[in-house]
Amino acid sequence: MINVLFVCLGNICRSPMAEAVFRDKVKKSGLENEIHVDSAGVGHWHVGSIPHEGTRELLDRKNISYQGMKARQITEKDWDQFDYLIVMDENNLHDVKVIREEEDVVIEKLMEFVPDVQTIDVPDPYFTGNFDHVFQLVDQGCEHLLEKIIKDHQLKEEL
Ligand code: 4NP
Repeated sequence: MINVLFVCLGNICRSPMAEAVFRDKVKKSGLENEIHVDSAGVGHWHVGSIPHEGTRELLDRKNISYQGMKARQITEKDWDQFDYLIVMDENNLHDVKVIREEEDVVIEKLMEFVPDVQTIDVPDPYFTGNFDHVFQLVDQGCEHLLEKIIKDHQLKEEL
């Protein structure tokens, strides 16, 4: 099993959106038995909360499930379980690297997987309100991340 954890600040806007979008792509590729997906926040403020209204509204519109998702805070134990910690911006990257460094765990910004990318940090819609822009970026990032994981682990898609 390959374990992927998406990380943002609050775990209510960006990382739950990435979790839902990525899981949807994994499922559509027939890889749900190969890739496990989760998300967490650096901060503790929203622990136990369902995704932000803006994220829910957008995922509803795209017909992507977020059923059962609740915010949680990242812990050191996540380094033992997850192979990929995929963060949204430079602040997340810094915060996550301070918690723990582990050679075997890939810690990378989502948009680093997109070739010739213009926007390297996924902006925080909690402050900007622009969930559509975030979705465009997250969708693009998740597409390329899945391609990379499939290639690196020689997974076989069942389309
Ligand atoms: P997220 O957005 O990191 O994309 O989930 C935020 C949600 C809440 C807060 C900050 C960012 N907050 O400060 O409460």
